[in-house]
Amino acid sequence: MIIAQISDTHIALDTPDADQRIRDFELTVSDINALDAAPDVIVHTGDIVHNGRQDEYAHAVATLAKARAPVYVLAGNKDNRANLRAAFAAGGYLAPDSDFIDYAIDDYPVRLIALDTLSSGSNKGDFCPERVRRLIDLIDAETAKPIAVFTHHPPFEVTVGPDRLNFGTPEIMSRLRQALHHSGRVVAVFSGHVHRAAAGHVGSIPATVVPCIATTLRKGEYPAYMKTRPVYHVHRFDPDWGFATETRIVGTGPTAASTCDSILPRREGTPV
Ligand SMILES: [Fe+2]
Repeated sequence: MIIAQISDTHIALDTPDADQRIRDFELTVSDINALDAAPDVIVHTGDIVHNGRQDEYAHAVATLAKARAPVYVLAGNKDNRANLRAAFAAGGYLAPDSDFIDYAIDDYPVRLIALDTLSSGSNKGDFCPERVRRLIDLIDAETAKPIAVFTHHPPFEVTVGPDRLNFGTPEIMSRLRQALHHSGRVVAVFSGHVHRAAAGHVGSIPATVVPCIATTLRKGEYPAYMKTRPVYHVHRFDPDWGFATETRIVGTGPTAASTCDSILPRREGTPV
């Protein structure tokens, strides 16, 4: 099973770099469409647009409509739940009457669970007791398959960048971490939000952060030739070895240099 993960496209229509953000998004979708082997699914881990506006979502929907693989989206702190839900309603996987944008996809050998980590008063993440209950229900709805969880805010300490914790308090992160270990079947957590690559663990669960697609907003040092080349992640799942993550540089061809981080499944009995 192959998952292409993209994040933080921050589509805006009235900033000086608006055209570049749209171009970055479109080039990324074209690059994913050209992958050999093709991904089974594409997941966008949020901050799809920059101001939560309907006209911004219209651009994002039109761009993602060109993707060959099925696309699932999460909400980021810059998204607007109601406008996102309306824009992507045709996908049929977003419950129209829910306070949160969280769901499970059961169509693949690995279940995909998308979480809503938005806070009402902050750009940082939140995960209230109600969302814990919803996560437990999503996990318990199927008891055989491994699970990959997607969040906008990374639920582990990101030691690069200005802010190591991307949730409001350590207690919130602890609550989410405990819920993720509820079944022992969550084998990976994939996030966005910090606009640069990172890897770590949520308890005993391997976790990664994909850089932002918007090249003008990317953090960290990149060589000059990558200035206008977005970066995304390709997660390949093997039942024996778990996930291996490839960092793809858009427009550099199928054999381009890339970095690989092996992500092994958690061992039974490891402490949580
Ligand atoms: Fe964000």
